Amino acid sequence: MTDEPATRPARNLDEVVAARSSNEDGPVHDGRGRFDLLFEPAGRKVRVPPGVMLFDAASWNGIAIDSTCGGHGTCRKCKVKVLDSGGPISSLDTRAFTTDELRAGWRLACRVEVSTDLRVEVPPLVTRPKAATVGVGRKVILRPAVQKRYVELTEATLSDQTADLERLFASLDDLELRPELHVLRSLGSVLRESDYKLTAVIVDDVLIDVEPGDTTGRLFAIAFDLGTTTVVATLLDLSTGTPVAVQSMLNKQQSFGADVITRISAVMMDARVLDRLCLLAHESLNELAQSVCESAAVRPEEVYEVALAGNATMTHIVLGIDPAPLGVAPFILSTRMFPDILATDIGVTVHERARAVIFPSFGAYVGGDIVAGLLASGMDRDSRMRLFLDIGTNCELVLGNADRLVATAAPAGPAFEGAAIRCGMRAARGAIEAVKMTEGGIELGVIGDAEPQGLCGSGLVDAVAELLDLKLLDSSGRFVPDDEATTIAPGIGARLTKLGKERVFVLHWKAEVGDVDRSIYLSQRDVRELQFAKAAIATGWHILLEEAGLKEDDLQQVLLAGSFGSYLSPASAIRLGLVPKLAALRVVSAGNVAGEGAKMALLSMRERAGAMALLEEVEYVELSDRGDFNDRFIEQLPFPL
Ligand code: FES
Repeated sequence: MTDEPATRPARNLDEVVAARSSNEDGPVHDGRGRFDLLFEPAGRKVRVPPGVMLFDAASWNGIAIDSTCGGHGTCRKCKVKVLDSGGPISSLDTRAFTTDELRAGWRLACRVEVSTDLRVEVPPLVTRPKAATVGVGRKVILRPAVQKRYVELTEATLSDQTADLERLFASLDDLELRPELHVLRSLGSVLRESDYKLTAVIVDDVLIDVEPGDTTGRLFAIAFDLGTTTVVATLLDLSTGTPVAVQSMLNKQQSFGADVITRISAVMMDARVLDRLCLLAHESLNELAQSVCESAAVRPEEVYEVALAGNATMTHIVLGIDPAPLGVAPFILSTRMFPDILATDIGVTVHERARAVIFPSFGAYVGGDIVAGLLASGMDRDSRMRLFLDIGTNCELVLGNADRLVATAAPAGPAFEGAAIRCGMRAARGAIEAVKMTEGGIELGVIGDAEPQGLCGSGLVDAVAELLDLKLLDSSGRFVPDDEATTIAPGIGARLTKLGKERVFVLHWKAEVGDVDRSIYLSQRDVRELQFAKAAIATGWHILLEEAGLKEDDLQQVLLAGSFGSYLSPASAIRLGLVPKLAALRVVSAGNVAGEGAKMALLSMRERAGAMALLEEVEYVELSDRGDFNDRFIEQLPFPL
């Protein structure tokens, strides 16, 4: 063990903030800007917020610096040369370097707090770290909080009566460890039964278990994306960074309502519902955990950490915290960051001392799923000006780049999830997910190539975009008169008809042609619902652009997060004005970024710290108290011409 307790680098938001405010000698900084770091000899330039440790800054940007302690300040391997001045010298630096080396600028990277622009020389690696590609093309250097060390100890004798724990710790002297009582209860027997050959299981700086023999090749974690509708679990092999099994299921809380507001209302009406919802979330997570383990032939006890990303309501409920204050003004979270908990606290039966990392939330309507999504997108480290959109009942929007990020949430309503749409349905087998129309005919893409049963969100967006292009729908969202329709599009104009008093456009005759009642159609009211949803979202990004002093054509990319984003046609989204008018190729699906962010937090402690730091970096813009919101919303109701 080291002879002096090492000062830990900033790991979470409080520590980052404390580190920033303690930076008395550094240049005055408004806490928002960035410092430039130039890493030589690679010539990589990155921009980071003040207060970040140099080691973290390098790691976050995929620049490998030697280390076996992962930034704990105990291995003394993260040697770098800070060019120009070198900066402050830490007490650990004086032990790691000679006076001449210190004078030349040599420092331990995990002790250098960035408080000015720096040029840094990184020596070649003694050992090449493993890396994995996750998120939106992000390369993450593997530095999981979980590690295993195999040790062969010398047997205790009458002349060597060193206590078991001290004997073990002496063989792990590059780490500054704390034991758990649970380990002490089994240590003696594991040592003796394994002939003093055992594997230490360490999470962060805590010894959570000892296992007989060499089990270093068996090291797993599970990333959960706890969505209001769907729950996804990914089992990760932490020794390689690769996912070994993925499973998803519908959130078992469905019977309490499709969206967060109905579930919050259910709790407000009967406090006992919270326990029920909490239990259902636990059951969903645990079923998936057991299922991914089984499919990859991994014993649940070999899973030593889990991470969970979910919106603020799902996160509150899974932790048994009353979500009611999230549902009523002024929309207050119980906390933005959650304390350290165990996987068993969220009902997941894996290793009994496995930790659970819960993603923090920005606010009641921009939750941990968005923090995870931003982490996966790397928006806070990229110079490109991008707009991140997670479209659902509530739409979360984040705009910006490495210099500044602004976020908001817009109440889109349930149209994109198929609810409130006459023939709407979830994106499941039989849902029309894509629509193509010409003057002569109509072509439908149906999930599972099945008989169409209804229309899901992406099909709805396509249908309206195509009708607008054919001019069967005008920009105010009104269907043209029937006689005009047959002239404009002779092959499909007759599909524009009436059901009772309402005008509808028939997408699929389910029974016989003319039987409108049993057909799958788009009604005038459905178009209105879509307009409301689109206007809420467009108002959100217009306001964000304005806040940032930008115009639509300053944007370089729109990232569509979540499963809806994967199915949505970029061209149709642009046609409706749902997203800014860019070349369709610049509107890209980012996939399940919440799940990817959760994976990153498990694969790298640096990325985990990055997620915490995001809370400080993103400025939240509240739409509901803006006096001009209604006028802006009405302005956005028409479709672009
Ligand atoms: S001392 Fe180990 S990373 Fe710095």
